[in-house]
This record gives sequence, structure tokens and C-alpha cells, in this order.
Amino acid sequence: MPETALYGGVTHRRITIRDLQQAKDRGERWPMLTAYDYSTARVFDAAGIPVLLVGDSAANMVYGYDTTVPVTVDELLPLVRGVVRGTSRALVVADLPFGSYQSSAAQALDTAARFLKEGGAQAVKLEGGQRVVPQVEALVAAGVPVMAHIGLTPQSVNALGGYRVQGRGDEAAHRLLQDAKALQQAGAFAVVLEVVPSDVAAQVTSELHIPTIGIGAGPGCDAQVLVWHDMAGFREGDGPKFAKRFAEVGSVLGDAAARFADEVRTGTYPGPEHEYH
Ligand code: KIV
Repeated sequence: MPETALYGGVTHRRITIRDLQQAKDRGERWPMLTAYDYSTARVFDAAGIPVLLVGDSAANMVYGYDTTVPVTVDELLPLVRGVVRGTSRALVVADLPFGSYQSSAAQALDTAARFLKEGGAQAVKLEGGQRVVPQVEALVAAGVPVMAHIGLTPQSVNALGGYRVQGRGDEAAHRLLQDAKALQQAGAFAVVLEVVPSDVAAQVTSELHIPTIGIGAGPGCDAQVLVWHDMAGFREGDGPKFAKRFAEVGSVLGDAAARFADEVRTGTYPGPEHEYH
């Protein structure tokens, strides 16, 4: 596979977890975005985004819930199917929602099996450190690639006391590193580090042989992920401090809708070129 395989236009097969490991081994950084539907996934796939996450952030971005806690497997599965249909090259990762894997390894396996069999995803993601090691081990033993997620884990927002920086201070940083190592040992193929100090994320990245994927974790990670609405300027309000807006899709869409409405009201649209005779 060519050296820049993860950057699009050079491969006609799906990215695999082996490609991602090879990218880390080469010191090649890669981008990841969330996607929740067929059309957006097609655009990101064509843009060369090698990994798309059907995040449980769909709770906020698709379903309008306040947190990710309420979203269910049945709500996420149709989104996974759409993203898989919209992609031919990206590795599609399905997020296991709150309550669908915490009880036991068996529960995690049942849920992951649904996302792979019914959704067509190639991997799953779950939140938590050492406490989810049995789940990660069971999934990996069953042949399910697992992306781990530590630091700010939004499914635990009620226990964390809000969306706050995690891993600050020596003790918390040590715990984070121990969690990351335990997840790697359990067989996770990558680990998301969300909202942790940059130096801590850089240290975890240098001590792990699997890729780290940062979100609000500074430039020292192997990969970066953003919720696409944050990346493209499609979220209500300013969004989190770590997110850079690479476009203003919300205002582009709003302007298009307003122009459409205006042309309908004034009778300018539809014009002769839009008519059938
Ligand atoms: O659900 C999600 O979108 C996520 C990413 C932000 C990592 O977990």
C-alpha cells in the first residue's frame, strides 16, 4: 500500500485497522470525523477521511437530546447502515450507546454483533478505562475490532459532574495512562483521548504502540477526530474550544433556504427551465 494510503484517492478498498497501525508505525497522522447519514458519509469518503465514526453524539446532532445518555441501539443502527452504504473506503466505527455494554462482556458482544451484522460496521467504540477491559477482551476474542475512549467520556457526564478536562494533575494523568495501557493490553486497536491536557495526551501517545485519536487533546496524538457539525460550522452556538470551524455550513444552508423561500413567495422559482411540458 502506498505511503499516503490513508489520505485518499489512492486505494479502492476499505481502510483496515492494520492500515491504521501501519500509519502509526510510519508516524503518519490521520483524520477522523463523525458521520450519521448516507449523503454526508459519501462526501467525507470522497474527501479521503479514512475513518468515520457513527458517534453516539448523534444523540445531540441528529436526535436533539441534551446528552448522549438517552440514545439507543435502535436509534443508532439505521444511521450506521446509511453511513456504511455511503462509503467504499472509510473504516466505519459504530459507537456502543450508554447501557448497551456496561452490564457484562456478553451484553457488549450482543450489541456489537448487531452493529456488525445488521449495521455493517467494521468496528465498534466504547467508553471507559480498566472497568471495560473484560468487554474489550471478549469483543476482540470474538473478532470485533474495538476502539477505546477515555478522558472525558460523555456517557458518564452525570458522574463526572459536567464536561470538564480530565487527566489533570499527576495522579489523574497516571490513572489515564494506566487505563490506556490496560485497553491496549486488552486488544483495543486505538484509543480516543477526549479533553485531556496536551502533554498528558502526548505522553500516552508515546507510550502506546496503538494509535491515539485526540479530541481536545492537543497536537501530540496520532490522529484527530471532530464531530462533523463542529468541523463544518453546523452546530448551534460556538461549540467547544478545541473545535476549529473549517466552514460555515449552517449559514450556507440557512441562506439557501431563505433564498428558496423568497423565490417561491415572489414566483421566481420554479422558472421555465424547471418545468416539464
Ligand atoms: O460520539 C462521538 O461523536 C464521539 C467522538 C466525539 C469521539 O465519541
